[in-house]
Amino acid sequence: MPLSHSASALPDNQRSTWADAYLSVRKRSEELCVPLSPEDYVIQAAPEASPAKWHLAHVSWFFETFLLKEYLVGYPEFHPLFGYLFNSYYEQIGKFQPRQERGFLSRPSVGEIYRYRAHVDEHMLTLLHNAGEDVWPTVQQRLEIGFNHEQQHQELLLTDIKLNLSTNPLRPAYRSDLHQTPKASAPHQHWIAFPGGVHEIGHQDDCFAYDNEKPRHRTYLNPFCLASRPVTNGEYLAFMEDGGYGNPGFWLSDGWSTVKRLHWSSPLYWESIEGEWWQFTLGGPRKLNLGEPICHVSYYEAEAYATWAGKRLPTEAEWEIAARGLPVAGNLRDSGYLHPAAAMPGDGLLQMYGDVWEHTASPYQPYPGFRPAAGALGEYNGKFMCSQMVLRGGSCVTAADHIRASYRNFFYPHERWQFQGFRLAEDA
Ligand SMILES: [Fe+2]
Repeated sequence: MPLSHSASALPDNQRSTWADAYLSVRKRSEELCVPLSPEDYVIQAAPEASPAKWHLAHVSWFFETFLLKEYLVGYPEFHPLFGYLFNSYYEQIGKFQPRQERGFLSRPSVGEIYRYRAHVDEHMLTLLHNAGEDVWPTVQQRLEIGFNHEQQHQELLLTDIKLNLSTNPLRPAYRSDLHQTPKASAPHQHWIAFPGGVHEIGHQDDCFAYDNEKPRHRTYLNPFCLASRPVTNGEYLAFMEDGGYGNPGFWLSDGWSTVKRLHWSSPLYWESIEGEWWQFTLGGPRKLNLGEPICHVSYYEAEAYATWAGKRLPTEAEWEIAARGLPVAGNLRDSGYLHPAAAMPGDGLLQMYGDVWEHTASPYQPYPGFRPAAGALGEYNGKFMCSQMVLRGGSCVTAADHIRASYRNFFYPHERWQFQGFRLAEDA
């Protein structure tokens, strides 16, 4: 057992750096909610789209549960039932409000949730300035998970606000002052070849990564080609106009069942008004821009399009090998559009980061040698490694300092409320 050291053994500037990083992440979540009315915070239009106020409270519960209750002696819990209300899915922590019933909660009020956030922030700063050197490595490790967790929920905030507002016949904008993406056509799609052989994928450097990105390991790939950019709205419209949603020959059996069950005939948020296609955006309804990457399509729709086009989706290993070495830059949340934009002309691979999360052909499974962490934090990723598909690259609502080549996002193959699109691949 390490001896307990005094708090002062750790340089004050290191503590301050972590405290500043903490406050910066927390402030961003609240800034994203500034355009909301009190009523906007509460609704849950679909089981997968949590209310904004639930997100704000849940990320606070995460810091409270995994840091304050464990490492701040004498921490005064804000409310004894908030653990039940704002635990998402951590079975080892205790029972929780069913996900589909998060929108049933008019109380606690939005104001009380902001007071909960302030309470957690005050005590987190106390912890960061006073934690003993013996517990600091664990505190720091959990803090990084907490930062990244809150960034994930910032993305979900925007995704869920979009879905929640979209179901309102008034089609209200989250922000009517959002700059529209340039009305441009996408550059011609071409193919970029990559060599086959034994490659290594998975997280490799010192920066933060989730456990599901490790261990780094070898994988064999046949030579392959990747499309230079994602499929556009105009290209997807050609699939629709060719009877894409009416021909079972293009679809996986599960996909075709879903098309019929949910009466799909276009991507989510598309609406035909007097013969013209519109789409709902965080800036309100806009006429469809044919040059933008297709967005809000499920894995099933991406796979059906690829079949129609005589191509396939890339595997996650192919995507990662292609992305490695490219700068993490693009139309990410910080660009301010909060909507995919048409690719700018350029050589090589375009839009690998940002715009749309890219569907891959890979099921979300553990890498060879993966072991989830012990305890409740091990439930973060590992228990979802069944029946979901991997997406790569981040989107126009992903923070730029949250994404990397090895990042694995995952959704069920029928889900499409996230900013999901795809690019094509083919065997070389
Ligand atoms: Fe969460």
